[in-house]
Amino acid sequence: MNKKVIQSAIKMCEKAHAPFSNYKVGSAVEIDSGEIIGGCNIESSSYGLTCCAERVALFRAIAEGYDKFKSIAVATKNAGMPCGACRQIIWELCGEIPVYICDMNGWVKTVSSNKLIPDAFDKKDLK
Ligand code: THU
Repeated sequence: MNKKVIQSAIKMCEKAHAPFSNYKVGSAVEIDSGEIIGGCNIESSSYGLTCCAERVALFRAIAEGYDKFKSIAVATKNAGMPCGACRQIIWELCGEIPVYICDMNGWVKTVSSNKLIPDAFDKKDLK
């Protein structure tokens, strides 16, 4: 387990823009080369346009040209689980990787991405 990715996810909670739910989420993705890219949740007054921390982290990484990921961490005050949309995107962009679910004290539960979305719809279904 990479402590840096967990500490980065915890730190990213400070950047959360969550004026409606007040539920701050930080995420960080570990690139295969070792770099770490963070994300936080960004809420909209129209609610549905909100983007989760995990997707912000992954989309930032993709936009920077990275496409191989070793792990992803998600931090909240209560070690909340990733939503369904993020499970789908983690699976599609990362394949099978450890997902570190953390609280703000650094408590961590590790779950494999394929366990989070069993029998996922993905590119194989589009053949
Ligand atoms: N949220 C995330 O950032 N990631 C998840 O996987 C679950 C939910 C955010 C979205 C919203 O800003 C807040 O948590 C409450 O749902």
